[in-house]
Amino acid sequence: MKIVMLGAPGAGKGTQAQMICEKYGIPHVSTGDIFRENIRNNTELGQQVKSYLNEGKLVPDELTVRILLDRVAKEDCANGYVLDGFPRTIPQAEVLTQKLEEMNDKIDFAIDVEVPDENIIRRMSGRRSCPKCGATYHVTYIPPKQDGICDECGSALVQRDDDKEETVKERLNVYHKQTQPLIEYYGNAGVLKTVDGTKDMKEVFEDITALLEE
Ligand code: AP5
Repeated sequence: MKIVMLGAPGAGKGTQAQMICEKYGIPHVSTGDIFRENIRNNTELGQQVKSYLNEGKLVPDELTVRILLDRVAKEDCANGYVLDGFPRTIPQAEVLTQKLEEMNDKIDFAIDVEVPDENIIRRMSGRRSCPKCGATYHVTYIPPKQDGICDECGSALVQRDDDKEETVKERLNVYHKQTQPLIEYYGNAGVLKTVDGTKDMKEVFEDITALLEE
């Protein structure tokens, strides 16, 4: 099963992607996580992409596509994957469609997690994530059992650099201009499924699994 997660920054794509991956035993491929890990480790890629992430801009398509295609070519992706944060532009989606077509394959589902902009800023300011295992929390809505500590691996939770209000507003602008057109793209491909992302995260997950299994 090959799934693309769509939705604004902070809509809950990562939260839902992790739950889908656990249930179906397929890897969670997040271009944002790959970039952040490289920034943390100060790799050459990390140095190339740092300013884009900090300013809420998109990393250029050519570089992003190369990183993504390398990742999905790995053995653990052979039986499917959940793409979170990719594609983000029509050219990225076109390359992905073309590469899959060359292998007689396609995206099975594109899940759009719908959340209005006004809810997004509130969510982002409360988000905390684990730099080690990638688990995501919210100080109010989805708190860890122990304040500031990851339930999964015990690491100290951090706030993302791009979750400042000004950067979030820029990321929302970029989303509406460059990423939202993908909803129509995958609608035309006949694989679009839409869920109400304002519900509790467990209800959103139930809605998603119902759509995947209908
Ligand atoms: P990326 O990491 O992909 O960020 P994003 O798309 O902006 O999405 P987020 O990770 O911020 O949010 P999310 O939807 O996953 O929400 P989450 O589940 O965490 O990209 C970051 C940057 O990398 C980009 O700006 C760009 O620079 C670069 N980049 C990445 N991919 C790229 C690409 N393909 N091309 C070019 N550049 C690229 O949830 C948010 C919060 O809400 C959490 O605190 C969570 O606990 C909480 N929450 C989740 N669900 C619920 C719920 N149902 N109710 C209440 N709270 C909830």
